[in-house]
Amino acid sequence: MGRPKEDRKKEHYYRAAKKEGYRSRSAYKIKQAIGEHKLLKGVNKVLELCCCPGGWTQVLHEINASLEIVAVDLSAMLPIEGVAFIQGDITAPETLESIERSTGGSVDLVLSDCSPNVSGNWELDVARQLFLAEVTIEIALRLLSGRGKVFLKVFQGKGFQEFVQSVRTTFQSVRLIKPEASRKTSAEIYLLAEHPIKKRVRNGAA
Ligand SMILES: C[S@@+](CC[C@H](N)C(=O)[O-])C[C@H]1O[C@@H](n2cnc3c(N)ncnc32)[C@H](O)[C@@H]1O
Repeated sequence: MGRPKEDRKKEHYYRAAKKEGYRSRSAYKIKQAIGEHKLLKGVNKVLELCCCPGGWTQVLHEINASLEIVAVDLSAMLPIEGVAFIQGDITAPETLESIERSTGGSVDLVLSDCSPNVSGNWELDVARQLFLAEVTIEIALRLLSGRGKVFLKVFQGKGFQEFVQSVRTTFQSVRLIKPEASRKTSAEIYLLAEHPIKKRVRNGAA
């Protein structure tokens, strides 16, 4: 009896990433989403949250070397040509200030592949990941223009449906996407929200 299909898929993308020089298997998820959903159409400036080790960033730079990219993570990232990197916690006000300075206060696309350090407690991990997805939406609403879009990872656990409903009240279009490179058995899904209709305010700041 062979190994389960999902294991073979994971290994396939792992090997492909090694061979093609990508820092993560996840690189194929963004590649597929960019191809299928035209994520980079009309986009000049990108904010990428939770970017380490940098597989998505490599793909962005490879597809369009003239994209302006600001990338953020808690961990340090090996440099990628032309990418402005901020090391910081996306939930911290000082990181938001650095992001606003580096982006000049506006971007066309926000990408977010945030996962908390796994604690082993599923409910806690889901809650922490959901918080990172909510923070992503808050940052996106501050920085995106009316034609802007955000593509983010969210775990399908407690609070997921309410989260999607709340994003629907602030963007004109919201779609859920499962890239082929994402394992079917994984709880992760990606949400693509386009064209903000409302600004959300965090910490009482305008
Ligand atoms: C799945 S990895 C991202 C992989 C990336 N898309 C790639 O292709 O290389 C998730 C990242 O989220 C980051 N992260 C988790 N919580 C964070 C936070 N509060 N602020 C910034 N980064 C965070 C982690 O440090 C980790 O690097």
